[in-house]
Amino acid sequence: MKKCLIFCAFLAVACTGAKEPLYKDATADIEDRIEDLVGRMTVEEKILQLNQYTLGTNTIEQNIGELVSEVPAEIGSLIYFGDEAVVRNAMQKRAMEDSRLGIPIIFGHDVIHGYITIFPIPLAQACSWNPELTRLGCEVAAQEAYSCGIDWTFSPMVDVARDPRWGRVMEGYGEDVYTNSVFCQAAIKGYQGDDMSQENRIAACLKHFAGYAASEAGMDYVYTEVSDQTLWDTYLPPFEAGIKAGAATLMSGFHNLSATPVAANRFLITEVLKNRWGHDGYVVSDWGSIKQLINQGMVETEKEAAETAFNAGNEMDMADQVYANNLKALLDEGKISMKQIDDAVSRVLRVKFRLGLFENPYVEEKPESERYLLPHSLEIAEKAAAESMVLLKNENAVLPIEKAKTIALIGPMADDQDEHRGNWCGRGRGEDVISILQGMEKEYKGKARIVHAEGCGFEGEDRSGFAEAVRVARSADVVVACLGHEAGWSGENHSRSTLEIPQIQEDLLAALKATGKPVVVLTASGRPLEMREVDEHADAILHIWHPGTCAGYAVAGLLSGRYNPSGKLAMTFPYTAGQIPIYYNRRPKARNEGWFQGLYEDITNDPMYPFGYGLSYSKFEYGPMTVSADKVSADGKLYAEVTVKNVSDRDGMETVHWYINDPYSKITRPVKELKFFEKKLVKAGESETFRFEIDPKRDLGFVNSKGEKYLDKGEYRIMVGDQTVSINVI
Ligand code: BGC
Repeated sequence: MKKCLIFCAFLAVACTGAKEPLYKDATADIEDRIEDLVGRMTVEEKILQLNQYTLGTNTIEQNIGELVSEVPAEIGSLIYFGDEAVVRNAMQKRAMEDSRLGIPIIFGHDVIHGYITIFPIPLAQACSWNPELTRLGCEVAAQEAYSCGIDWTFSPMVDVARDPRWGRVMEGYGEDVYTNSVFCQAAIKGYQGDDMSQENRIAACLKHFAGYAASEAGMDYVYTEVSDQTLWDTYLPPFEAGIKAGAATLMSGFHNLSATPVAANRFLITEVLKNRWGHDGYVVSDWGSIKQLINQGMVETEKEAAETAFNAGNEMDMADQVYANNLKALLDEGKISMKQIDDAVSRVLRVKFRLGLFENPYVEEKPESERYLLPHSLEIAEKAAAESMVLLKNENAVLPIEKAKTIALIGPMADDQDEHRGNWCGRGRGEDVISILQGMEKEYKGKARIVHAEGCGFEGEDRSGFAEAVRVARSADVVVACLGHEAGWSGENHSRSTLEIPQIQEDLLAALKATGKPVVVLTASGRPLEMREVDEHADAILHIWHPGTCAGYAVAGLLSGRYNPSGKLAMTFPYTAGQIPIYYNRRPKARNEGWFQGLYEDITNDPMYPFGYGLSYSKFEYGPMTVSADKVSADGKLYAEVTVKNVSDRDGMETVHWYINDPYSKITRPVKELKFFEKKLVKAGESETFRFEIDPKRDLGFVNSKGEKYLDKGEYRIMVGDQTVSINVI
């Protein structure tokens, strides 16, 4: 389709003999096209390119957008809330035909974990330890979004998150730096492919640059205190990885980072991102974040806000319209320069050229059946859901359920469709979701009877359904309690002070357990949960997160044994919220012996389930770790290996996590740092060898508080499972 349009354009020129301006020449170099186009633009046209308005009805509660009918034809970007290419095309037609230069609009939308086919929330995806599934999922999301009129997604979010009270932990890839970096790269590849101008590809947007997840006390929109050292060793690396993977754009966060709100943070946006990392795409501000500089106490007026944000390096103003209203005056007053405006416009145009929008401004209007929920997409969604669920407990091998004649499905999540979509679920529709009940009925057809009772709602005090739930439980051989959080209890502006499942659900569980039947608990949520109560009453626990469209098939497949659980936690589950922040790679503490250990007096210091934890129906045994040498130079290479044997009679997938530790360093380092992981199928009774290729600078080196990378000589420890081997960098 795209090639055909280019050919038609060529023919048109050839037939009329008219000479097209250089910027319209698809064969010319993009930089030459940009220069030519910027040279033709008026100041007003340039400024309009730096603004993003909204089109369509906004369904995102925290973004109070409206249907904007009077959008200028020269507008740079629109957040597109429609899901039909036709509205987009009509608007694009205005831009192409009613504006003087015919510059296409770039249409953006939050496609976070799928557009109509919904994939597990990103935090769950990280628990699959299978970045290829994330790449494929983002590829599907891109295809669906593209065919509905979207060119640009505000994803992936790569905010390393260590406070599960913060609702947005669901949008990222957990608490670890390396994990966020790997999944970030997979997502970008999935959205953008190798060439964004191809059909079904959209531009990615890394967000929220940077440190947003450090929000104090897990609240949203508040202050974040991040030391320079932590900024460089924890929050920035996933962004740098994303830039290396070719992320077209970034979004600056709306948080106040160590007393300089990011929207005003020239150091981050210009010095680090552009000057140091060489990013040549553009930065969009977050919704309202430029005006919010007033709330944050940085500036007094919208004009000052525009000046500060623009000078910091935000090229595009999302939803604020402060650029549209003020940049011209700021230019006339010499507070910003034409050179800056030209650079900003060039960056926006560069992404539009790279997307091929000048050649293909319109999207083919295809029927729904060709746009979304395609069989291949649903297959990926089911696999991703199955691999992301984490088996937390399985006493007496209650799971898989293979012999039961009657299975009771009880709880508010059992027959639900909407909540499985999770928050930020694009245009995903509840009616397309396979409920657990539907999945189980299909899975066990002809093998077991599925009986069902809701028992209670997600919260509240209505216990009138308990008696029926207990009666249904008594009639079954095994009870599956489907509990958890609603989708809207996590996501933006959904902070929680505790991580528990509401009391009414815990009471229902206790009543089910009292029947004496084996109880399997499915827990759904968009964040780590406090599981003490659940653990007390459960024989098995499968944490299902918010799994997306194919929820019921994935759950049923895991319960029946058609799938073997292989998820492991990408974020620590604390024992209580009082332990927060809790994460696996703390720095070592001062005292660790006898009474002086700095322990809590009332609870354990250990988490309920640590990072990397997750069970399988198979049993894996790790052989001794070997390293290819015990000394290595900074430029040398070595590798560590471990052989994993599946000593069960069931094929299973195992993820091996490789950690390092630098025990003595002038800049103290975490007790463990994940540097590599690999997931492989290990067949029953067979073994697989896993290898970690160690590049000393990349895997053992560190970064200082100025972002300078270095590698110390001396001892390093390589860790896998419960084994540690020391090596020396010479
Ligand atoms: C969120 C962003 C999102 C934007 C546009 C903001 O409220 O912080 O993550 O991309 O809205 O919907």
